[in-house]
Amino acid sequence: MKAKVLVTGMAGLLGSNFTRYLLSEGYDVVGIDDFSGGYKENLVDGVKCVNINLADLEAVDKFFAEEKLDYVYHFAAYAAEGLSPFIRKYNYTNNLICSANLITSSINHNVKKFIFTSSMATYGRENTPPFTEDMQPKPIDPYGVAKYAVEMDLKLAKEQFGLDYTIIRPHNIVGKYQNIWDRYRNVIGIWIRKSMHNEPLTIFGDGLQTRAFSDVKYYYKPFEQVMFDYGGEIFNLGADKERTILEAAQLVQKCAANFGFHPEIVHFEPRHEAKFAFCNHDKAKKLLGFHDGTNLEQTINEMFEWALTQPDHPVKNMTYETEKKIYSFWR
Ligand SMILES: NC(=O)c1ccc[n+]([C@@H]2O[C@H](COP(=O)([O-])OP(=O)(O)OC[C@H]3O[C@@H](n4cnc5c(N)ncnc54)[C@H](O)[C@@H]3O)[C@@H](O)[C@H]2O)c1
Repeated sequence: MKAKVLVTGMAGLLGSNFTRYLLSEGYDVVGIDDFSGGYKENLVDGVKCVNINLADLEAVDKFFAEEKLDYVYHFAAYAAEGLSPFIRKYNYTNNLICSANLITSSINHNVKKFIFTSSMATYGRENTPPFTEDMQPKPIDPYGVAKYAVEMDLKLAKEQFGLDYTIIRPHNIVGKYQNIWDRYRNVIGIWIRKSMHNEPLTIFGDGLQTRAFSDVKYYYKPFEQVMFDYGGEIFNLGADKERTILEAAQLVQKCAANFGFHPEIVHFEPRHEAKFAFCNHDKAKKLLGFHDGTNLEQTINEMFEWALTQPDHPVKNMTYETEKKIYSFWR
């Protein structure tokens, strides 16, 4: 048996997909998830995934003491970037405090390496895309602030306690097991759910903002590789090909038609976000052999096929901590 690996957020998009990859490569995998944003159906039968809220340091530390982990892949988060200004406390609890707890337990129990999924959100909108890893982070919302804070904390934990780490900044990942029932995040998943319910596809503003969507399957190899190398490094991971949100919606319309759905597109007021956001991936290509082969149309079709086999979960509504300036589409 190869090393023992903890995957946090095992029931989520990255967690459930990467767990399957790790198992296929012979690793001993255990998970933590509180199922606040992922579903039990996404887990692999027979693989231990414990229901712990990572905000509970005592429970986390007890788990680490029992499991004797070699590596930690920390994917758990609530990654609703646009919503984060309206749920500050929830955001910092899930995205910062939970990460701090895992870092503490990794120090306490001599974890060999901590791999953290940060975000393109750290770059903000003052940096000009394509973003490169050497740019000074300038996040524009609490989600990006939380991710950047964890990045800085990992640097301190390595300097003071020798905890090794690598940071991945992914962006706009799509694939099977994505939570399509969350109305605040993952635009393609939201549109797939809306198509299946004969609801219009919603766009914030004119739809000319650009993003680059990548299929989750191209992440597995580089994720595995940083387990053993590139301590203290940061890597962007994702697709090179950016497209407008309007083009992406039209592609979802095209795929939806294959399954008998014909949604319209509707526009709402713009929201507080970076208009153009995409990354340069040269570093990951050079050092990790990263190759993004995403065929977005094919991925969306696969997601429809999968989504149609899933139970129809209730759509998640969050309790807003402030309703000031909240957008009409979230009221
Ligand atoms: N999906 C993307 O496009 C994207 C882009 C950039 C960064 N990321 C980052 O990658 C990571 C994985 O993203 P994802 O899309 O797989 O997310 P996801 O929402 O699909 O999965 C996250 C999982 O974490 C769990 N979780 C959340 N809070 C928890 C807590 N307090 N305790 C225990 N479990 C908790 C959820 O139940 C869920 O199963 C996140 O850190 C996210 O910020 C994702």
